[in-house]
Amino acid sequence: MHLQSPAPFPQNRPRRLRRDAFTRNLVRENAVTPHDLIYPVFVHEGSQRREAVTSMPGVDRLSLDLLLPVAEDCARLGIPVLALFPAIDPSLKTPDGKEALNPDGLIPRVVRALKKEFPQLGVMTDVALDPYTSHGQDGVLDDTGYIINDETVEILTGQALTHAEAGVDIVAPSDMMDGRIGAIREALEVQGHIHTRIMAYSAKYASAFYGPFRDAVGTRGALGKADKNVYQMDPGNSDEALREVAIDIAEGADMVMVKPGMPYLDIVRRVKDEFKVPTFAYQVSGEYAMIKAAAANGWLDHDAVMMESLLAFKRAGADGVLTYFARDAARLLTK
Ligand code: PBG
Repeated sequence: MHLQSPAPFPQNRPRRLRRDAFTRNLVRENAVTPHDLIYPVFVHEGSQRREAVTSMPGVDRLSLDLLLPVAEDCARLGIPVLALFPAIDPSLKTPDGKEALNPDGLIPRVVRALKKEFPQLGVMTDVALDPYTSHGQDGVLDDTGYIINDETVEILTGQALTHAEAGVDIVAPSDMMDGRIGAIREALEVQGHIHTRIMAYSAKYASAFYGPFRDAVGTRGALGKADKNVYQMDPGNSDEALREVAIDIAEGADMVMVKPGMPYLDIVRRVKDEFKVPTFAYQVSGEYAMIKAAAANGWLDHDAVMMESLLAFKRAGADGVLTYFARDAARLLTK
């Protein structure tokens, strides 16, 4: 047997490219910029009204007058888009969520004000009925409590048109009904809203990570023990996400989204590789709450973990991230 003498040095030294900051900066493959971030905000009626969302430290429900300086801050920081979510007065909630169609409702008024004050700042709205329904589901129910698809799509189409008429830039259907992207796209075209972009929540999973969001919009109580498993996707599925994305693109979505974010980065990567369309991920309320809670206990370094989590989305192939950290991250990046 011929014994080979050991090599006098490692054949490869990958550490050369990690030796100093300039080299690491030079060879880094992915980066986060403020332009990658979409900032979700919660609005409610009134003036000078700020309510902390206890399960989301650092996040408040704001009245429009208090939201305007936040929007100004986002524009200054280079954050391209605000995503609006309403906490609707309980007296306006009904089984059919018809307040969602009110052209003078909270969201249309906030959209008009934002577009008037900050025309260069993108505004995106959620299309779904959960903030408006007395039961907290995203659509209307039949006698057995099943969410009826086609009737819901009709209402959602009206909701999207109401937002478009108020001047919104992007509508984001988050309801997971079948056929809603096609119905909304057709209605927008017919009504002349040819520039309104659709960001489809295409692969939205029935996730327990949405808990704090349901506190923020005030739907947790109404939902009670009910779940959204008959329309949101099963967390065990991956191929199904590709089918959902294919359908939404064929029906006219401009951008697609995967939600939640960090636990579903494999889905982000598959979607991006397969379709090569603008792909977004939503770092949802529960992900935000986990990082905040660990940081508050001194168990994790807040800023370092925040930035690493956002970078992970870019590495997985996301073009952008909806994140409650958007302003904190943009502030760090522009320091
Ligand atoms: C509702 C909607 C939800 C989120 C965005 N839109 C919650 C849900 O489906 O119950 C979750 C966002 C988050 O958790 O941050 N259509």
